[in-house]
Amino acid sequence: MHILITAGPTVEDIDPVRFISNRSTGKLGFALAQAALQAKHQVTLIHGPVDSALITGLPHGKPLKRIEIRSSDEMFSAVMNAVGFADAVIMNAAVADFQPKRSSVDKLKKSATLTLELRATADILKHLGDHKRDAKERLILVGFALETGEGETPPERSRTAIEFARRKMKTKNLDAIVLNSPDTIGSDEGDFLILFSDPEKPSELAPGAKDKFARHLIDIVQKLARR
Ligand code: CTP
Repeated sequence: MHILITAGPTVEDIDPVRFISNRSTGKLGFALAQAALQAKHQVTLIHGPVDSALITGLPHGKPLKRIEIRSSDEMFSAVMNAVGFADAVIMNAAVADFQPKRSSVDKLKKSATLTLELRATADILKHLGDHKRDAKERLILVGFALETGEGETPPERSRTAIEFARRKMKTKNLDAIVLNSPDTIGSDEGDFLILFSDPEKPSELAPGAKDKFARHLIDIVQKLARR
């Protein structure tokens, strides 16, 4: 199979020195790429700025194509250029939800207050999901949902987090979605709950090391492709 994996944050520039981004490190996305390569798949890895140790830890050349981008717009274009070759997409990147309406070429001068006007970025995964629906493609789509949930009590928060993730899976027309919490960011471990669009498939709780989870998720993608 050819698996397209996105990883890490995107960076939305305000001016030449300032930006909007998030705390994603890319660890899980790179672990997914390693796991897919070990399982003898062809991999296209599209990622935002990450620690160079993650990049040097990857094997060189075929069957891996690595594309480094910075902004959500660049990630959108890179994904659209690559998706035609893919059998599955695992959208693990923490794509920024907002970008400055205007990015200044000159460094902004200090002032007492600054109002930034932001606009929503294009939702890459939703775009892929809509296209899959229209074209009736067999492309496997797996997304991630980072949720805190809402409510007064832990059970209420976890129930709503699952509800939000299911909603995302439906809106973006995904085969599966991985629910995790902000504690996962930067850590080597996580509490991952995998939800499937197929109502016959029960959800799977997979806590543990990111590299172990990555191997498990690649296994799941293989099985989804075989249906
Ligand atoms: N995603 C994407 N393009 C965006 C934002 C998100 O492709 N502009 C993808 C992410 O890679 C992830 C999934 O959509 O696989 C869900 O991302 P998340 O940030 O949890 O959800 P959002 O749809 O952005 O909704 P919200 O932030 O409001 O929870």
